Amino acid sequence: PHEGKVRELLDRMTVEEKLGQLQQLAWSWDTGPGGGETKDVEDAARSGRLGSVLSIFGAKSSNALQRIAVEESRLGIPLLFGLDVIHGFWTTFPIPLAQAASFDPDVTRTDAEVSAKEARSNGVHWTFSPMMDVTHEPRWGRIAEGCGEDPYLTAEFAAAKVEGYQGPGKHGYAAKDRVAACAKHFVAYGGAEGGRDYNTVDVSESRLRNLYLPPFKAALDAGAATVMASFNTIGGVPAHGNSHTLTGILKKEWGFDGVVVSDWTGVQELIAHGFAEDGAAAAKLSLNAGVDMEMVSTNLREHGKKLLRDGKISERRLDDAVARILRLKFALGLFDDPYVDEDAAIDGPTAAARKAARETAARSMVLLKNDGGALPLKTSAKSIAVVGPFGDSDDLLGTWVVPAAAKKYPSVKVLGAVKRAAPGAKVTYARGVDPEGKDTAGIPAAVAAAKAADVTVVVVGEPPSMSGEAAARSDISLPGAQERLVEAIAKTGKPFVVVLVNGRPLTMGGWLKSAPAVLEAWHPGVEAGNAIADVLFGKVDPGGKLPVSFPRTVGQIPIHYNHESTGRPYDADNKYSSKYLDLPPDPQFPFGHGLSYTTFEIGAPKLSRDTVSAGALREGDTLEVSVTVSNTGRRKGDEVVQLYVHDLAASITQPVRKLRGFRRVTLGAGRSTVVRFRVGAEDLGFWTNDTHGEFLVEEGKFDLYVGNSSAAKGKRTLTVT
Ligand code: IFM
Repeated sequence: PHEGKVRELLDRMTVEEKLGQLQQLAWSWDTGPGGGETKDVEDAARSGRLGSVLSIFGAKSSNALQRIAVEESRLGIPLLFGLDVIHGFWTTFPIPLAQAASFDPDVTRTDAEVSAKEARSNGVHWTFSPMMDVTHEPRWGRIAEGCGEDPYLTAEFAAAKVEGYQGPGKHGYAAKDRVAACAKHFVAYGGAEGGRDYNTVDVSESRLRNLYLPPFKAALDAGAATVMASFNTIGGVPAHGNSHTLTGILKKEWGFDGVVVSDWTGVQELIAHGFAEDGAAAAKLSLNAGVDMEMVSTNLREHGKKLLRDGKISERRLDDAVARILRLKFALGLFDDPYVDEDAAIDGPTAAARKAARETAARSMVLLKNDGGALPLKTSAKSIAVVGPFGDSDDLLGTWVVPAAAKKYPSVKVLGAVKRAAPGAKVTYARGVDPEGKDTAGIPAAVAAAKAADVTVVVVGEPPSMSGEAAARSDISLPGAQERLVEAIAKTGKPFVVVLVNGRPLTMGGWLKSAPAVLEAWHPGVEAGNAIADVLFGKVDPGGKLPVSFPRTVGQIPIHYNHESTGRPYDADNKYSSKYLDLPPDPQFPFGHGLSYTTFEIGAPKLSRDTVSAGALREGDTLEVSVTVSNTGRRKGDEVVQLYVHDLAASITQPVRKLRGFRRVTLGAGRSTVVRFRVGAEDLGFWTNDTHGEFLVEEGKFDLYVGNSSAAKGKRTLTVT
């Protein structure tokens, strides 16, 4: 709708002004190496040599900078303000990995809606979210920011989050309570070798298309306005200079007409990658590959004019990049109203937002183990000890939190929440060890507290600083002496339960055997303590499931449910089969695992037909898989019914299971319901190694498994003719 205006403006722009639109500079709060001075940002805005600013927020400060661009630059083109609003602006929701564990896309939609409203009212137009990097690497710190190891689950969450941020329709973000979303990081960033951040990725075309690309396609189908390039290489070609992925797939095959932004100094890093000789080459390679906006480094701005003169970049491509950015500014309504209403700025979490944060955090928790019904705790308990470094901590927000929010709105502590939940109990606290597990002087006091109490809640895990960007760990067990603390509590012989707060799968030592119950709470956000207490005391049934496998040891990585079979699959009776001598073949806890305070039975799956033709599937034919799920226990609870597909023989070997459907249901005691899944070509087919994109649905047999984890046993076989 704005094409005429975009063209008109382009006609009036100098080359410098065009290159200026491609430039994004940082205002404050560096999220990468080096940032720059705010004075440089203002000067660039004044001279019309700036298109966007990241990490600026606050109605007053963003208006002040906007005024410089609009009132003092020659063409008065408004600036675009971007910010990493990853799981909350003021109201910090649970980390994205936790949200995925809810197996309820409405959880992430709610986060995005609240975040968009708070951020936009504070001058933010654009969030660098959602992150949708599928990964099989729990050592990678950024696993906390995504949805784990499965492309289907990640795709469902990516689409819901985009819709939540942007609102309905292609340009829903024109509304004053929405923001433009950014699908990141394009692409295969989660494949970093060894889980070391920014590391090399080598991936076949079929794995690229079957594993890493589906969430991006889903996010773009949901209308995501922008895409961010990733720091990694893809088969030797850095993502920032990769014309196959950025232009071939994204812009041509998928027809993406939005903005591709670089990551922080990602253009400049083409030099360190050994892909570009100098800044001019980096600018040329990235623009020609499909990057439209350069974040923080300034190669396009510095070298663009000469590159154009020398014919190394074309005016057509430059205009295309500028047009994409201008279109976004028009669609956001910035040319009509570049400012934000300073009187309407939301200045903190509302009661409704806190309630949503509490409910979503509780909904994201996963009950890993619960021997003998150790949980839920009784609110009538006489004495409760809370021990562990996170029992009285307000640092449970997780990675990527807006610094001002962390300062003003830290997490509700577990200790206080336990006291409120069990008002009649004597509640004591002992830290035991520090968050890094280095200072062990407090262990005896923690043991004494446990001995004196009816039951102990041990809150251990990772401090948020140990997860997120540039926070890879080679050892993913509880840090330092935290394991010793759990073992010391176990030795008291008194009842206890363990609550984990962490941003990645953890390996669990011998302490796991001795712990009667383990609740995975992740980094739960601003309402952490309240949400944990809601689940501990049974106000909320823990209905979450693992969005990622928990390995037994680091040596088992990569271990994920959706692996391909080998020619010698694991066989306990056969020495010459694929396994480690010193470990069982499966993970500690598989993908999709999670218990409830009640019990469920999932009946045998039914198929509407046993046979379907590949041709009909390709034309849109579908069949139905249905299953009855019953709450066989004595209390209301949640179950997630999951559908997995296995193509038994294909021209490219397929994962032993692929998640293709899930439904979270809440059922009262003794109640049943029928869950139905539609299965079509997209569930049974796969992408080949053809670089132009070939999706095949082949004839043959398919096992369809339905159950409550990736280890589901109930199956039906479908024949595709
Ligand atoms: O959005 C982030 C990205 O995920 C990692 N590098 C910095 C960007 C902007 O802060």
